[in-house]
Amino acid sequence: MDQKTSHEIVSRFNVPGNSPDKVIETYSEWAQHYDEISVSLKYIGPELAANEVAARIPQEKRGTMKVIDIAAGTGRVGRLLRDKGFSNIDALEPSKGMLDVLKKTGAYTNTYVEFLGVGQNSVPEDTYDVLVMAGGFAEGHIPVSGIDDMIRITKPGGLVIIAMRKSFLRCEEYKDRLIPYMDEMERQGKWIKEDVEFVDEYVVNEIGIRFTYKVV
Ligand SMILES: C[S@@+](CC[C@H](N)C(=O)[O-])C[C@H]1O[C@@H](n2cnc3c(N)ncnc32)[C@H](O)[C@@H]1O
Repeated sequence: MDQKTSHEIVSRFNVPGNSPDKVIETYSEWAQHYDEISVSLKYIGPELAANEVAARIPQEKRGTMKVIDIAAGTGRVGRLLRDKGFSNIDALEPSKGMLDVLKKTGAYTNTYVEFLGVGQNSVPEDTYDVLVMAGGFAEGHIPVSGIDDMIRITKPGGLVIIAMRKSFLRCEEYKDRLIPYMDEMERQGKWIKEDVEFVDEYVVNEIGIRFTYKVV
C-alpha cells in the first residue's frame, strides 16, 4: 500500500467529533490491513513503548510481570514484548475486528473488548505491574478520563508507559486538558512522572512522545 492511500485511510480514524462507535467500526473495517498501513506510514509507536517496557523490566522478571496493552489494536506491542521475554500480557481493545487479528498473534492471555475512559470498564483495580499504550491517545479515541482507569488498574508501584503523536496534544479532547490532567494527578499524589522522551519520526513527518509514570 502506498503512503498516500495509507494517509487517507488513517485520516478516517482521526476525525474530530467521531463517536467512539464510529471510530471502532472504522478500525474493524480496516483491521486486516492495519499492519500494512502502519508499515507504510513508518509508525513506530509500538517499538517506542515496548522498548521502554523492556528497558525498565530486567530479563529475569519478564515472565512474571503482569502487563496490559491498552488500545492494543492488532497486537503489535504484545508481539514485540513476547519477543523480549514477556509472557503474561493482557489486552484491552474495543474493536472486535482488531481484536480478531490480535488473538492470532498468540502473544496475549486475556482480552477485554472494551473502551477505556467511558465509565464502563471491567478490568479489576490494582492488577498490572505494567500498563502500556501506543496510539490510544488520538482524535476521537481515549478521552482524558482514561487516565483515571489507567491509574486504577495499575498496581501501586507499577508503570504506565504511553506513546503518542505530539500533534494530537492539540486536538479538541486533549488541548489544554491532557497534560494539565496528567500533572494534576501527580500533584494529587496518584502517580509520579519518571521520564519523557521525544522522537522525530514517530510516524511519517510527525514527532512522537513517550511518557513513563510510576503509580503511587
Ligand atoms: C492507532 S491504533 C493503535 C493500535 C496499537 N496499539 C498499535 O500501536 O499498533 C488505536 C487503537 O485504539 C483503539 N481505541 C479507540 N478508542 C479507544 C478507547 N476509548 N479505549 C481503548 N481503545 C480505544 C482503537 O480501536 C485502535 O485499535
